[in-house]
Amino acid sequence: MNKIQLVIIAVALLATSGTCAALSDEEELGKLLYFDTNLSTPAGQSCASCHHPTAGFADPDNDQPVSQGVLPMKRFGNRNSPTAAYAAYSPDFGTITEDGETLYAGGQFWDGRAKDLVEQAKGPFLNPLEMNNPNKRTVIVKINNSDYADFFEEVTDVNLTYLSGSNVELAYQKTAEAIAAYENTSELNQFSSKYDLYLAGDVELTGEEMMGLELFEGKALCSQCHPSEPGPYADQALFTDYTYDNLGTPKNPDNPFYTLPKKFNPDGANFVDYGLGGFLMSGGVAGWENEAGKVKVPTLRNIGVTSPYMHNGVFGSLEEVVDFYNTRDNATAVWPAPEVAENVNIGELGDLGLNETEVTALVAFMETLTDGYAAPA
Ligand code: HEC
Ligand code: HEC
Repeated sequence: MNKIQLVIIAVALLATSGTCAALSDEEELGKLLYFDTNLSTPAGQSCASCHHPTAGFADPDNDQPVSQGVLPMKRFGNRNSPTAAYAAYSPDFGTITEDGETLYAGGQFWDGRAKDLVEQAKGPFLNPLEMNNPNKRTVIVKINNSDYADFFEEVTDVNLTYLSGSNVELAYQKTAEAIAAYENTSELNQFSSKYDLYLAGDVELTGEEMMGLELFEGKALCSQCHPSEPGPYADQALFTDYTYDNLGTPKNPDNPFYTLPKKFNPDGANFVDYGLGGFLMSGGVAGWENEAGKVKVPTLRNIGVTSPYMHNGVFGSLEEVVDFYNTRDNATAVWPAPEVAENVNIGELGDLGLNETEVTALVAFMETLTDGYAAPA
């Protein structure tokens, strides 16, 4: 990390902590862990490296469709970093019933493979394509060598110097719980966008933004999956219903994951991301075929600052995303084939008949969802 990056982080930390209610001890510990760049092997990468406050808690590196691990060059995960903000509202992975149909919903990651935030937080430290620690013990030793080791022991009641197997397990569990506690705070879940202020009656949307909102909830069908009103999981709109869908998103030929050594990606450029279906298949769950290619509906909060888009980062701009929804099935449009041809949603998108003004209005509306909006004086 260079000096400029350090300054950016310091400013961002000040900016986020300045506006929010005081954190509890456990949340404060979680924040220290979340921003600690020493918890990777080699040191240099923290959770915030890929989920940064200045990038809507997603990856600040917009030049890459997916995120780079801590090892320099050639180590990339296969998916685009989603925002860690508002992830706390996702219900535990499971099924729900909607109009008599049983649907998968909730969980963490694009494919739902972590049940909740605590299980999610245990993953990145040990992922060789992310923070690359060889084992849990290495992470705990690093925490024991940190300047907040005493605070950790005080908050969690776990002795960091006594490193038997079960004690390491316990310390690792407490680490994940503290991070999840921090992810549940208003530092990540600010609800401070222009749209929130508009709903509170504090600002007005421009004519264009208003038109975008009406299209979003009407003709463009967006709110079917990205609800713009409070729902079952929060008193505010979360812009996701946490269900799973295959939009027919094309493969991303620029995904650097394709060029990874065989050890990490045996399929090379033929790699296909089966999303939820892949996760269910690996667990031997019957009916996984019906979920192949589906990924979790992402929140659209902070979407204006979290490019690139989709699970594989195939689209660079919001215009491109809307164009895809608008013209996927248009005879004149030429989109590449879907990454997974099975289970593509054909009812709710593909030929929306939006003109250019309407596309621009939808984008303008989505840009009102960025947190930290300061109303003009
Ligand atoms: C190298 C970049 C990188 C690092 C470091 C990283 N993440 Fe992630 N994170 C990702 C990617 C990529 C995904 C999506 C992976 C997938 O779906 O398979 C993800 C997914 C998530 C999600 C799920 C969000 C959702 O809506 O499903 C959360 C929460 C999260 N990360 C939090 C963390 C925490 C906490 C840490 C530190 C312990 C961390 N991340 C470290 C890249 C990273
Ligand atoms: C049938 C459900 C559904 C509908 C309808 C829908 N979306 Fe989505 N949206 C999704 C899913 C699922 C993804 C992730 C797709 C992927 O990664 O392949 C997504 C992704 C996105 C993304 C990228 C998010 C990110 O973090 O990368 C944007 C932006 C978006 N949708 C906007 C819209 C807009 C605007 C509309 C209306 C024109 C809309 N969506 C309609 C389900 C839906």
